[in-house]
Amino acid sequence: MDIDNLQSLALPEEKKAWFVHDRFGMFVHWGLYALPARHEWVKSREELNDADYQKYFDHFDPDLYDPREWARRAKAAGMKYVVLTTKHHEGFCLWDTQATDFKVTNTPYGKDLLRPFVDAFRAEGLRIGFYYSLIDWHHPDFTVDPRHPQRNHPDALKINEGRDISRYAAFMREQVRELLTEFGQIDIMWFDFSYPQWKLGELVGKGHQDWESEKLVRLVRELAPDIIINNRLDLAGLQPDIVTPEQYMPRARPLRDGKRVVWEACHTLSGSWGYHRDEDTWKSTEQLVQMLVGTVAMGGNLLMNVGPTARGTLDHRAIAALAAYEEWMALHERSIVGCSQSDFTAPADCRLTQNGDRLYIHLFNWPYRHLHFDALASKIEYAQFLHDGSEVTWLRPSANTLWANTQFPVGADQLTFVLPVRRPQIVVPVIEVKLTAGSAPGI
Ligand code: GLC
Repeated sequence: MDIDNLQSLALPEEKKAWFVHDRFGMFVHWGLYALPARHEWVKSREELNDADYQKYFDHFDPDLYDPREWARRAKAAGMKYVVLTTKHHEGFCLWDTQATDFKVTNTPYGKDLLRPFVDAFRAEGLRIGFYYSLIDWHHPDFTVDPRHPQRNHPDALKINEGRDISRYAAFMREQVRELLTEFGQIDIMWFDFSYPQWKLGELVGKGHQDWESEKLVRLVRELAPDIIINNRLDLAGLQPDIVTPEQYMPRARPLRDGKRVVWEACHTLSGSWGYHRDEDTWKSTEQLVQMLVGTVAMGGNLLMNVGPTARGTLDHRAIAALAAYEEWMALHERSIVGCSQSDFTAPADCRLTQNGDRLYIHLFNWPYRHLHFDALASKIEYAQFLHDGSEVTWLRPSANTLWANTQFPVGADQLTFVLPVRRPQIVVPVIEVKLTAGSAPGI
């Protein structure tokens, strides 16, 4: 593989500016697995074969599907882009593809789901991303591997003899061509995922050789030169456009070769991506908001997932979670969108974001009256709470000899915000600081 040449397929940084600016997106996992409603991996977990799984195809009829409602809720929550599973690991396609019969138009629902989805989200001003599963547990040429539903079949190796993964790779290219030519401008291509290191007996996982990843990336670039491609194609020679840690909060901004990378954390509202009726680890309002803030404070994006039901609705728990974002973002969008990490050092229990000369201090915990901040004393012009625009005053203990409370020396550059004793009724209160001209550190 020609590494230099491969690297030329990476998207230039300036083409990712919209993504870095927008910060918050909605992930949507929807497919036949909404019917069993016990995780999108149900076919693999329960080792179901195609005949077992057929009943979900035969009963797929999301009669209440209204993507305009989903789009309205996403927009209200402050989300700026959406990534939808056009095909997940089960192999079921949400659009009227010509490459397989295993598609929505052949179910009782009988209609394409993708075009109305794309139109609805575009109408609300969100950018569109397509998730496309590299894994396919339905395709006849997809070989049985360590996570395949038939991995424990006594004839697994024999089944594989009749399969040709390169035909499957060509099928994927055909589908990707449809996705990138029939739905207008698509801004993100989200491939999922590679696992060459996995082994089970003689079965091995899959990576770039199976997917023919390089050809796939070349095709995507040819069809959509400005699209963002994620990093799950197992292409070591290609600096990915974005890095996508999953259900994992790093403690600092991810680096690659010492350089900051563009990254997007993806998370679930509860413990499953697909609709899971009985799963109950729904995150609290506080966690949801803190995860968004914490990610942007490390220079990342958050892609937060919903798993619609088999009738095409958002479950009431998902609606409540989106409403929690809506309530907070209505007043605090300014500290998220257009922001990145700050080079100031955050006080204890705080997360900082910054947009030019605006510094945002997010208080995860409410201290008693004083919030001490280093290296800010000579750089601050004004401070206010973001939720109500009320002034936040400050002291400079070292400069103010009349202020007798301290009674011991404090650092010359220390500034101390004076907070109300009681925390405002806001899940994560934010102090917005206007920095003096020319004092914003580079971010
Ligand atoms: C994993 C899972 C999958 C989910 C994805 C989202 O790779 O296989 O179900 O779609 O993560 O990042």
